[in-house]
Amino acid sequence: MLKYRCISKSAQETQALAGKIMSFLKPSDVVLLTGDLGAGKTTLVGGALSYLGYKDHVISPTFNILKCYFEVKPNVFHIDAYRLENQNIDIGLDEFIEGNGVTFVEWPKFIEPLIPSKHLEISIKRISDNERDIEIIDPTDSYKTVLENLEAK
Ligand SMILES: Nc1ncnc2c1ncn2[C@@H]1O[C@H](COP(=O)(O)OP(=O)(O)OP(=O)(O)O)[C@@H](O)[C@H]1O
Ligand SMILES: [Mg+2]
Repeated sequence: MLKYRCISKSAQETQALAGKIMSFLKPSDVVLLTGDLGAGKTTLVGGALSYLGYKDHVISPTFNILKCYFEVKPNVFHIDAYRLENQNIDIGLDEFIEGNGVTFVEWPKFIEPLIPSKHLEISIKRISDNERDIEIIDPTDSYKTVLENLEAK
């Protein structure tokens, strides 16, 4: 299991890290975002989208469960499973996960049966108002290039 760990000192730093990761991702890749409420999961997705040239403010899809960004290449699918809490997870999300876009999943534990074993996990822990302990975990050693490039920076 490959891992990379760093401290982010601002939301902008987290977004820059997201851009760097996004530069290596391809359609069908799945990125799990774990961490408490307000950790910075949605902020990180915003960084990945702005790397792809998306200009609008990225909001959490909490009330929609899924938000699709077809205007960027690769397409980005942003899932926030918080409201699902394991109930009724059979709502067609599987058509997007590992489909024709990069999928980011907030609160993946609530849709665990839908998560493929090949994925990248980004775990964000709050240290202080502006500091976050960020760990990038590649459980199946499928994202060696991503991890190596983060190490090399
Ligand atoms: N280093 C940092 N990295 C990321 N976000 C930060 C950082 N420092 C401060 N923040 C702020 O923390 C907040 C994170 O909110 P965000 O909506 O991204 O959290 P979340 O993990 O998606 O929460 P939820 O589970 O409620 O969806 C934002 O207001 C962001 O500006
Ligand atoms: Mg969020």
